[in-house]
Amino acid sequence: MKVSIASDHAGYELRKLVVAHLEEKGYEVLEGGADTAALPFSYVEAGQKIAEDILSGKADRGIAICGTGIGISIVVNKYKGIRCGLCNNEFMARMSRQHNDANVLAFGARVVGSSLALSMVDAFFAEEFAGERHAERVGDICAQEDRLFK
Ligand code: RB5
Repeated sequence: MKVSIASDHAGYELRKLVVAHLEEKGYEVLEGGADTAALPFSYVEAGQKIAEDILSGKADRGIAICGTGIGISIVVNKYKGIRCGLCNNEFMARMSRQHNDANVLAFGARVVGSSLALSMVDAFFAEEFAGERHAERVGDICAQEDRLFK
């Protein structure tokens, strides 16, 4: 599994912890975004990198981090084929996979602590999409994308 992870400056420190965690677990990680927490870096650019890595096939899943998780989740969700769940707890991370077949997990470095962030990451990668009625909903989302973004 290849994971694209990126953040702005606000998410830099937490991103580094998540990258180390993923690499320790054997994931191939593509990292982007801010090079330091000290200088402002746009969450828009960070989100674009994740979406483009997934849509070009360089990555299977993404992790998106900014201060609140809001800005970067908005950016990635503008792309056709990206389903990003902005999560604040492990339950949401699990459900984003089971019910929404999310391919990007977003969270806010100023919202969640590091141990919660790592449990959300583990939950996100552990869960499978449940299919059945949820496949119908996700299919409807895809049909909506087809209608809106030709
Ligand atoms: C950066 O200060 C902050 O605006 C950004 O990290 C994020 O929270 C935006 O949604």
